[in-house]
Amino acid sequence: MNATIAIIGAGLAGLSAAQALQAAGQPVQLFDKSRGSGGRMASKRNDFVTLDLGAQYFTARDRRFAETVQQWRESGWVAEWTPTLYQLDDGVLSPSPDEQVRWVGTPRMSAITRGLLRDVPVKFSCRITEVFKGDEHWMLQDAEGESYGPFSHVIIAIPAPQATTLLSAAPTLASTAAGVIMEPTWAVALGFDEPLATRIEGCFVHDEPLDWLARDRSKPGRDCKLDTWVLHAASAWTRKHLDTPKDQVIEHLYGAFAELIGCVVPAPSFAIAHRWLYARPAGAHQWGALADADLGLYACGDWCLAGRVEGAWLSGQDAARRLLDHL
Ligand code: FAD
Ligand code: NAI
Repeated sequence: MNATIAIIGAGLAGLSAAQALQAAGQPVQLFDKSRGSGGRMASKRNDFVTLDLGAQYFTARDRRFAETVQQWRESGWVAEWTPTLYQLDDGVLSPSPDEQVRWVGTPRMSAITRGLLRDVPVKFSCRITEVFKGDEHWMLQDAEGESYGPFSHVIIAIPAPQATTLLSAAPTLASTAAGVIMEPTWAVALGFDEPLATRIEGCFVHDEPLDWLARDRSKPGRDCKLDTWVLHAASAWTRKHLDTPKDQVIEHLYGAFAELIGCVVPAPSFAIAHRWLYARPAGAHQWGALADADLGLYACGDWCLAGRVEGAWLSGQDAARRLLDHL
């Protein structure tokens, strides 16, 4: 029987599982619907710049993840970001420094998954729509009707609402995934020809419509002539504006940003918007990963723990460990 393990999703969870399985001598094959790796850690490219529109930075609280991040640092994939932090509370903007170590991919967030992908076979632009088991082995089908397999095991490493249908062969796992609510986030990036006259490099906002803003150019390794900013809308605001056209979302968030930042904000030389439909799980769980070891079907992703980069990596490790334990 073919012993290759299929992994659906080349975000951090899928790549974390792939790396652990490869290190244990197991062949893997990744599939991703996008044109590149990274998922919510991907970086958006346009004619002017490349920006982190999804995950902004990450912290490492688990010892195993902290050790891995040190290896990434030695490989040159990540560096520490030490932004001048502010917060907006009850309409009052104030400095909010702290001691937290924060990491970013360098020169962009996607450098991490790109580095992890190095030796892993992957098929991009391939949206898997069905996962089914024949007599002994697993087969996959994509949106074009093409089939892939046979595989010995399948790991589904995509957001819970998308994982639910692919988990139909294991109804218990499917219903667990179906119970996970994931909140959306509108993200807007702005570029200015001249640097804005502010010290702010990151700001936690507790005032709709915004939730967070960051000066992307202040992150290490960014080589950009423009003063670039990324704004994230709050989940509640995003839910109310899910179908609002992008130009209106840009106008709204730009207006809130200009009001908040406390300096002259000219018209941006570029503005882009991106809607993350499944940005973060509404709550945290302690599942590690979901497994039906007898069937050979697994699910992982940030939603199995907490909706953070660290959670995604740990969940991928947990899926791989459970699979290896059952070989
Ligand atoms: P994903 O990154 O979503 O990867 C899933 C992959 O599966 C994607 O590449 C997708 O294309 C692919 N896929 C989906 N369906 C299919 C299918 N049917 N067939 C094939 N491929 C498929 N975390 C932090 O720690 N710090 C932050 O500052 C932070 N900020 C964030 C801001 C935003 C706006 C968002 C959206 C997220 C943020 N996060 C942050 C969360 C962090 O990005 C995620 O926790 C982490 O990237 C999730 O990784 P994952 O591998 O579980 O899922
Ligand atoms: P962290 O420890 O820096 O932040 C956790 C939370 O603590 C922040 O959201 C903020 O509310 C608060 N906080 C931290 N430092 C602060 C400071 N100096 N001043 C005021 N408040 C401060 O990082 P952690 O725990 O790794 O979380 C990652 C970040 O990712 C969080 O900010 C989270 O909101 C964000 N995120 C955003 C998503 C989205 O869709 N917009 C999805 C998932 C995570």
